[in-house]
Amino acid sequence: MTSFTVAVAGGTGGIGRNIVNGLVQQGKHEILILSRKSSTLEIGSTSIRTIATDYSNIDGMKTILKANNITIIISALILASPEGSQAQLNLISAAAQSGIVKKFLPSEYGIHYTEEIVSFHPAARYWLDAADALRKSNMQFTRVIFGWTLDHYGLPRVHSYMKPFKYVLDFDNRKAAIPGDGEQPVSFLHTADLARYIGALLEEDDWPELSAFVADTLSWKEFVGIAEKVTGAKWEVKYDSVTTLEKGEATILPQLEGAPTEADYPGMRAMISEFGLMAVRGVLDVSRLGVRNEEFPQIKPMGVEEVVEKAWGKGPGA
Ligand SMILES: NC(=O)c1ccc[n+]([C@@H]2O[C@H](COP(=O)([O-])OP(=O)(O)OC[C@H]3O[C@@H](n4cnc5c(N)ncnc54)[C@H](OP(=O)(O)O)[C@@H]3O)[C@@H](O)[C@H]2O)c1
Repeated sequence: MTSFTVAVAGGTGGIGRNIVNGLVQQGKHEILILSRKSSTLEIGSTSIRTIATDYSNIDGMKTILKANNITIIISALILASPEGSQAQLNLISAAAQSGIVKKFLPSEYGIHYTEEIVSFHPAARYWLDAADALRKSNMQFTRVIFGWTLDHYGLPRVHSYMKPFKYVLDFDNRKAAIPGDGEQPVSFLHTADLARYIGALLEEDDWPELSAFVADTLSWKEFVGIAEKVTGAKWEVKYDSVTTLEKGEATILPQLEGAPTEADYPGMRAMISEFGLMAVRGVLDVSRLGVRNEEFPQIKPMGVEEVVEKAWGKGPGA
């Protein structure tokens, strides 16, 4: 089996660190992190080198990629701002020009963004721009999508490096704020399983443009039903109407300490409203596009009920 040097850009972040963790556990490749600051990250007995990267300096990044013999880049940069998007576009340019990087997995990890989605979720443009730049490059790329992350519903008992963030379900207070009527299907995956799928993708010679992986597809209403069953309690449920979502006034649930706030991200309520509209318009169901799970039968992703049961059930450790 061939071993590569793989750089995870943004491997210090929530999804990125889960990917790094999974690849280190896989133990097949040398893993490096690209970060705006240099440091060393310890994962078990493995030290992961974090290389200080100036994402505005394309020549500097080319030098880093060549000096470290990096042939695969996995980006987990946050694309929540023009700066984050430009950082990834510059990294794509550096990788394409380096002549050494053969594969680039862009920061996606959501839904299949299209022009139609840009009309109500303008940030989707960042993902489309990255895909366009990759299509023009000579590198292979695949856009890994899965819908909505399960990590928030498993913390802290189901380990994740993602920051806690309550969305739709508030297990501490047995309350839910459902977008629309909550009937449309939504796809879910835990990022520990995302990391396993990415590890498996590294073994493939050729990548298709889209790689969707899904553990479960069910509606937000069905998710609340699972939460009620596992917690043995009737939950208080409110519904944000489509008009409320279109006005950008989605409910923000009370958050735990350490969670992102509206003060940190002034556009947060609008963004959460857009996530609600994605659910209402059915685009959070990525299983409709065809998933690749069956190509990797060795990976058995945790389903919604499994994660909720581990985190909130009355089993051992409760
Ligand atoms: N489907 C879902 O439910 C879901 C949930 C969450 C996230 N996501 C997606 O997953 C991806 C990563 O999200 P995340 O929450 O893991 O991100 P994050 O933790 O907020 O940030 C990831 C990393 O990006 C780097 N970064 C931040 N701002 C930057 C900038 N202006 N320029 C360059 N680097 C910058 C930081 O690394 P350094 O400080 O080390 O440079 C940070 O650790 C995004 O594409 C996001 O949309 C999907």
